[in-house]
Amino acid sequence: MTKTQIIMDCDPGLDDAVALLLAMASPEDIDILGVTTVVGNCSVELTQANARRICELAGRKDMKVFRGCSRTFFSRVAPSTYVGTDVHGETGLGGCKLPPPTMPLQSEDAVSYIIKTLLESPTKITLAPTGSLTNIACAFIMEPRIKEKIDKIVLMGGSIGLGNISPAAEYNFYYEPQAAYVVFTSNVPIVMIGLDVTRQTQTSEAWLQTVEAMNTPVSQAVVDMLSHYYRPNAFLEPGVTGGVLHDPNVIAYLINPSGD
Ligand code: RIB
Ligand code: CA
Repeated sequence: MTKTQIIMDCDPGLDDAVALLLAMASPEDIDILGVTTVVGNCSVELTQANARRICELAGRKDMKVFRGCSRTFFSRVAPSTYVGTDVHGETGLGGCKLPPPTMPLQSEDAVSYIIKTLLESPTKITLAPTGSLTNIACAFIMEPRIKEKIDKIVLMGGSIGLGNISPAAEYNFYYEPQAAYVVFTSNVPIVMIGLDVTRQTQTSEAWLQTVEAMNTPVSQAVVDMLSHYYRPNAFLEPGVTGGVLHDPNVIAYLINPSGD
């Protein structure tokens, strides 16, 4: 199977961090052209620094990481149940003790990078957003021609059932509904991986113990991160007992779309 070239747009954030690690651990399936970051689980200053921390943890100081939008199009209504740092901690990476990043942040902004990379690519590229869709929507609005250079968008967001930030809303779409509208009306092929799918992938004490037993710097960092990752609202997410690993499902789909 040929590698899938992706731009990963994310808001690390604990589950984004695991998704990024999984993508970097799958070089035979995924070629990450660049990592763009956006405000969401925490500020974009934290999401861009956390993305670099995770790349360094994985030995990928060569990865291009870009800073994207620092706010949503419109000021968001007060959250009905929780904000990102309630779930991901003040640093955005829970109890993780990774040092500040030393690899550079790219000077180009994320939206310009997305536009330039797509327009200049000789082949179509897959976008893999795991946060709010603000960067992607800005790129579509600024340069609509990029739509012809996108093979598909595989995104984490939405739900066909209960939401998680409110009964009717999933966090990524709630945080930036206007951007979600721009993306879903773009006619670009979309694979939407919503809460009805992602709630099937939760952490558990037993699972964390198997990760800890791997006894590597990456496994220890993952345990430090996910030990603090809990379900934010029992009322909204009945039956959810662990931290839901939403975003790694985007990467798992790219690795094995059939899921068999
Ligand atoms: O609703 C889950 C989504 O919101 C995930 O992408 C999580 O990282 C948060 O961004
Ligand atoms: Ca996310």
